[in-house]
Amino acid sequence: MGEKIRIGALISGGGSNLQAIIDSCENGKISGQLTFIGSDSPKAYGLKRAVEFKIPSFVVDYPSIIREFKEDPSKVSLPADFDLDELLSKQSLVHGGGDVNSVKFFLTTRAVAEAKLLQEMEPYPFDLLVLAGFMRNLTPYFIDRVNLDRNNPRIMNIHPALLPAFPGLDGYGDTFRYGCKIGGCTIHFIDYGEDSGPIIGQRAFPISDDDTIDSIRKKGLELEWELYAECIQMFAQGRLKSVKKIFTLDNGQEVKRTIVEILPKAK
Ligand code: GAR
Repeated sequence: MGEKIRIGALISGGGSNLQAIIDSCENGKISGQLTFIGSDSPKAYGLKRAVEFKIPSFVVDYPSIIREFKEDPSKVSLPADFDLDELLSKQSLVHGGGDVNSVKFFLTTRAVAEAKLLQEMEPYPFDLLVLAGFMRNLTPYFIDRVNLDRNNPRIMNIHPALLPAFPGLDGYGDTFRYGCKIGGCTIHFIDYGEDSGPIIGQRAFPISDDDTIDSIRKKGLELEWELYAECIQMFAQGRLKSVKKIFTLDNGQEVKRTIVEILPKAK
């Protein structure tokens, strides 16, 4: 086995996925080690796991940054390299039809928070950044400063639904309310959209009439913990290859999509 990769993690909550990643690093399912844990809120329970496992941690308090900006934007200093027009042209988190000022507010406040994240992450070099229940959309400001090599993305996310179905904040709830007969979870690299990046792995489970949102979440989380470790390990083994594909439909229309090919294990 080669060297261990350095993994940074961002969380918002309890961090059961974070715990599964810590355990998998300890028991060798992942050839890696956690180098930092960042949270968007001081209340995230996952921060206690950082203390327990002696992993450096930090908080970038998104709600207070957003509140300060709302109260008086002139009091909030923007990052020196902030370019709102560039972010507007790249992002696909908010689609046409939205109020321009609220899109600008969203991108500006998030970039202020993201600049602080980058500053906090600076002392801890990493090979892979995992979002482990991080409930914030990252803008191109952050993504471009982490993905220095565009062909080798290195921000991984877990989402509680079989994407591209049910992106957003409540994947299992949306799956349940829709009356799906199958639920699941997805690991993907993030891109400029919401839960829209190239898919690395998926796991599915059946849903019966007796299931509730809670039972669905329980089944899903157990699969998440396994799947996340497997996908991180494939990254550590250098087996995830991003490939740009162009598909031509019968009507001549071209569909362009970056997909992840899984390379075989080295012998
Ligand atoms: C997990 O179900 C994860 O898939 C989901 O939040 C939960 C976090 O649980 N993530 C998202 O919805 C991201 N959009 P955890 O804190 O116990 O790992």
